[in-house]
Amino acid sequence: MLLSVPSSSAMVSRTLLFLLASSLYLGVLGQEPDTKGADGSACCNALRAELPPSVGVFARGTPEYDSRHQTYYSLQQQELFPNCTVKPNSAQDVSLVLKIAKAHQCVFAVASGGHMSWKGSSNIDGGFVIDMRALNQIDISVKDQTVKLGPGSQWTTVYAAMAPFNVTTTGARINSVGVGGFLLGGGIAFASVTKGFAADNVFNYEIVLADGSITTASKTKNADLFWALKLGSTNYGIVTRYDMTTSPSAVIWGAVSAYPITNQSVSELLSDFQTYGHDTKNTKNFKSVAFAQSGGVGSLSTVQANLDGIPQPPGTSVAPSVHAELVGTTHDVIDQVIAGALAATARAHWFTFTTKIDQQFFKDLYAQANQIFTPLNNRAGLSWFISFQALQKSYIAKTAGTPIFNTLNQSNDDLVINLILVTWTDPADELVMRKATDSLGTWSETEARKRGLLNDFVYLNYANEEQHIYDRSVTPDDLDKMRAVQKKYDPSGTFVNLWRGGYKVPKAGYHGAETTTGVEEENQRLATRHGKSDEL
Ligand SMILES: Cc1cc2nc3c(=O)[nH]c(=O)nc-3n(C[C@H](O)[C@H](O)[C@H](O)COP(=O)(O)OP(=O)(O)OC[C@H]3O[C@@H](n4cnc5c(N)ncnc54)[C@H](O)[C@@H]3O)c2cc1C
Ligand SMILES: *[C@@H]1O[C@H](CO)[C@@H](O)[C@H](O)[C@H]1NC(C)=O
Ligand SMILES: *[C@@H]1O[C@H](CO)[C@@H](O)[C@H](O)[C@H]1NC(C)=O
Ligand SMILES: *[C@@H]1O[C@H](CO)[C@@H](O)[C@H](O)[C@H]1NC(C)=O
Ligand SMILES: *[C@@H]1O[C@H](CO)[C@@H](O)[C@H](O)[C@H]1NC(C)=O
Repeated sequence: MLLSVPSSSAMVSRTLLFLLASSLYLGVLGQEPDTKGADGSACCNALRAELPPSVGVFARGTPEYDSRHQTYYSLQQQELFPNCTVKPNSAQDVSLVLKIAKAHQCVFAVASGGHMSWKGSSNIDGGFVIDMRALNQIDISVKDQTVKLGPGSQWTTVYAAMAPFNVTTTGARINSVGVGGFLLGGGIAFASVTKGFAADNVFNYEIVLADGSITTASKTKNADLFWALKLGSTNYGIVTRYDMTTSPSAVIWGAVSAYPITNQSVSELLSDFQTYGHDTKNTKNFKSVAFAQSGGVGSLSTVQANLDGIPQPPGTSVAPSVHAELVGTTHDVIDQVIAGALAATARAHWFTFTTKIDQQFFKDLYAQANQIFTPLNNRAGLSWFISFQALQKSYIAKTAGTPIFNTLNQSNDDLVINLILVTWTDPADELVMRKATDSLGTWSETEARKRGLLNDFVYLNYANEEQHIYDRSVTPDDLDKMRAVQKKYDPSGTFVNLWRGGYKVPKAGYHGAETTTGVEEENQRLATRHGKSDEL
């Protein structure tokens, strides 16, 4: 429902909130209001002067800068302009860049695939961006069933390189997602039911620490850092190589289908999904279900895969309105069948939460979504999408020995990662869409908690800037451990002070924003620009 609030008093309360939030934030993280180096020009000049000529530093308008800028999935991220981008070719180069940033107190962001959805997660206004795309090593050992991956590749390139060797790994299910960010937040893959998150299949990291030193982390070396990096985000260092296990795989089967929303399709597909989510014998099948609405027309869609390349039956006898399937390499299945399921770039707002499997809850969530979004059907390009992805006990078991396990295992049940993904085209609709999405998310969490269905876990790779990853997904004891690891490897707080984007491990006792973009400030800016009609 649209409520019109007198704009002056709304502004005052939002300003107060912002001041309160930012002073708390600065106080707790111990961050000085630092404007030195914020515009970035002095830093970019220092980078140009001090780096060897092999390391490119690029200004806006150059092809390198612009192509970096266009990789960002969200159009909101594309509204930010760093003063320059710098493109290291090696871990040594990354170390030099970091030392220069420290010496000049420069703020920066790090971008690999550029697919994190919220504004400022891997881009920055002023300052500079470390563009990881040149660290794109893909070094496959068929004999050892391992691969050494630079952070800078997109998963489509990784799968393409693996195809001739008949191997695959736990990467993303969409072409353009990057290696670097995906593996620092988890990573849902087709084989997750037996292999856990993609991050659970990394057995060694090469990383540049806050002091510029280059080291590795594994079960046997820097084991505490290895543990923390499974949910590392932007806290511990810049990862320059991920060593992962691979599996033999010549071909897989994959399919995407869309069905009209009828009582029959909804009840059959949700009960099929429930069976799948509780199936303890399944080791080969992936299946997700989503309600989608575009141009006011709803549909129910499924994504299915079989790791042995064997086509599977659909979860309903209702005829699909759209269907595509293929038996082929992981690369070809994703490229030709699955990747089309999500737009390559979008003006988007995401919200995620985790529940037990409950068909009635999923139906009620859909009804609530209709109630919230139907009044917005006249807004340009509105689409919304609510997807359910299984997080079975076997999947959760693979996260043992990572910071999220004790939270995921709390319910001792099969779970579901729920994602609400809203896209639209008019920049003027930003605030109204954020509020609508967040109100659906809040309703969902409240309702799921009331029904005993909510698990605290918030999946980092699907979250927005207001969601609390560490406070929710990590138990207090494990969070203390994460803080201790941070203190050990970055004792002077370099990454808290200078590295913008991602999620920051909060200080003890702090339960506020975990990101470095001022959410209230952004809302206020939008409200000022677009007026009170955007108030929910
Ligand atoms: C179209 C689409 C499809 C998706 N599909 C999936 C999917 O199948 N499964 C899934 O689990 N998720 C999926 N995601 C979510 C995705 O996992 C996250 O958005 C992920 O963060 C993207 O990684 P990136 O390298 O592309 O992003 P970036 O935006 O480049 O990076 C994300 C974060 O990681 C940090 N970072 C990046 N590289 C490094 C590095 N080398 N060292 C330290 N920090 C670094 C960045 O600073 C940023 O905070 C999808 C997202 C989109 C938009
Ligand atoms: C970088 O800073 C210089 C000097 O202040 C300025 O001229 C230039 O426009 C800035 N570029 C960007 C992309 O902000
Ligand atoms: C990969 O698998 C295909 C089909 O099973 C087979 O024809 C091909 O020889 C294999 N290639 C390698 C390098 O093993
Ligand atoms: C589903 O069933 C209910 C009652 O059982 C009915 O009111 C409703 O119209 C049906 N919806 C559809 C889409 O068929
Ligand atoms: C997971 O939780 C269950 C129930 O509380 C407990 O019995 C089990 O030991 C836990 N698993 C691990 C590996 O801690």
